[in-house]
Amino acid sequence: MDDRALLKLMLKDRKNIQNIYKPTNYWACYERKMLFQIWLFGLKKLQKRESILSAFSYTTPFERFMLPYDYCHKHIDFTQINTLVELGSGCGRQVEIIKKRHPNICFLLFDMPPALYVCEQYLKSIFPDVVSYRETRDMTTMPRKKGIYIFGNWKFPIIKNIDLFWNAASFQEMEPGVVANYLKYVNKEAKNVFLQERMEGKELAIKKGKCGVLKKTTIEDYKRGLPDFKLVDTSPSVITKGCTNSFWKKD
Ligand SMILES: C[S@@+](CC[C@H](N)C(=O)[O-])C[C@H]1O[C@@H](n2cnc3c(N)ncnc32)[C@H](O)[C@@H]1O
Repeated sequence: MDDRALLKLMLKDRKNIQNIYKPTNYWACYERKMLFQIWLFGLKKLQKRESILSAFSYTTPFERFMLPYDYCHKHIDFTQINTLVELGSGCGRQVEIIKKRHPNICFLLFDMPPALYVCEQYLKSIFPDVVSYRETRDMTTMPRKKGIYIFGNWKFPIIKNIDLFWNAASFQEMEPGVVANYLKYVNKEAKNVFLQERMEGKELAIKKGKCGVLKKTTIEDYKRGLPDFKLVDTSPSVITKGCTNSFWKKD
């Protein structure tokens, strides 16, 4: 269901955030298109439009999100997880898969609008315990009760003592300095980390403002950003071409 007032509120709040949490070159290109389509066509029509980013298409194969969950199963017992943080949650399909199997986990999702808006509206249409951005925007401490909490990415410093941090196809689209800022909190507060990224980095933009990253974020940036972690496994992702699944545990 459309709720343009919610999207407007998210965009208004974002005007006053620190630069480090603003869209970087890669995502700014996509965001403009996405915002335009959401505003013009609404969510129902967006669902049918193949033109929108594939990560936001509701027709993206189920395996795209099931396989990372299966992969993590080899490294962590999901029944022991209380808190899972996902940064760059897209439209929320990954959390949908995990929550259907583990309904008692406290999920904290961080993203930028408009993706965050799509995510909230999509997950609210499936689960009764989604805590809206309208409530999380004023939170100053991390919630711990079961549910799905929708946070603006600029609230990321709120995370404390989390069992699993998740990032898929998202860090790779950011600049290394932006990733380093997020990883500073992850390194301190997480016990386990799952990253699914293009480890040699995404394509470079021919110039600022054109699609691509200005500087590649690579495996070396993840290692530097997670000094307290051991990289316990890497394996190529079968379905997300060019990406590698990786699991990290606190030493
Ligand atoms: C390609 S989508 C991946 C979505 C989802 N993780 C998946 O696997 O389908 C990239 C996601 O990263 C988010 N993102 C991009 N830059 C970001 C930033 N600087 N901070 C937080 N999230 C960001 C986008 O909003 C988007 O949701």
